[in-house]
Amino acid sequence: MEDPRTGRVRVAVLISGAGSNMAALIDAARAADCPFEVALVLSNKPDAGGLTVAEGKGVPVAAVDHRPFGKDREAHERAVDAILNEHRVEVVALAGYMRLLTPWLVQRWEGRMLNIHPSLLPKYPGLDTHARALAAGDLEAGCTVHLVTEGVDEGPILAQATVPMLPDDTSNSLAQRVLTAEHALYPRALADFCRAQMRSL
Ligand code: GRF
Repeated sequence: MEDPRTGRVRVAVLISGAGSNMAALIDAARAADCPFEVALVLSNKPDAGGLTVAEGKGVPVAAVDHRPFGKDREAHERAVDAILNEHRVEVVALAGYMRLLTPWLVQRWEGRMLNIHPSLLPKYPGLDTHARALAAGDLEAGCTVHLVTEGVDEGPILAQATVPMLPDDTSNSLAQRVLTAEHALYPRALADFCRAQMRSL
C-alpha cells in the first residue's frame, strides 16, 4: 500500500461538520516524514464547514448529499465509494461523519477504515458521550481511534488519549478539552497505522 509517486498512503477523510479533526490530519500530513497524504475530503452534507476549510488548504473535496437517496443507505454508500475509488483512496478516516454505515461499506473497507470517537471506548459508544461521562462521575475522559466494524464504535482500539475531568466541567468544557486531545491523537494513530500497513505489504 502507498502511492508509488509519493511513497505515502492515500487517505480520504469523511466528515459531516466543522472538520477540526480533518484539518489536524491535513496539517500533520505536511510533515516531510508523514506516511499519509489527505487525497480527498468527502462530506455527506454539501454545506459542511469543513469542506471550505479543506479547499482552503488545497485538498480535493467532494460532497455526496445523502438526502436524495432517502432510506437507501447502501445506494448512497455506493456513490461515496465510487468517488473514493476515483481518487485512488487506500485508507478512510472517519472524522465526525454522522452516518450509520451499512455492512456493505464496512466490509468493502474492512481493516482500512478508522474512526475517532470522543470517549474512552468501550465506555459510551454512540452520542452524548461527555454528558454521560459527567453523569457517571468519572475522574477522567478521553478519546479513542479504532478500526470500523459493523457494530457502532465497537471495532478494535488502535489508540486512546485521556484528559482529566475538572470539578466545574460542563459538557461543553469537557468536549473542548477532549477535542484538543483528538487533534493530537488522530494524526499520530493514523500515521502509526499507515506505517504498519506499509511494512506489512
Ligand atoms: C469529534 O468529537 C469526533 O470525535 C466525533 O465528532 C466530532 C467531530 O468534530 N466523532 P470535528 O468535525 O472533527 O471538529
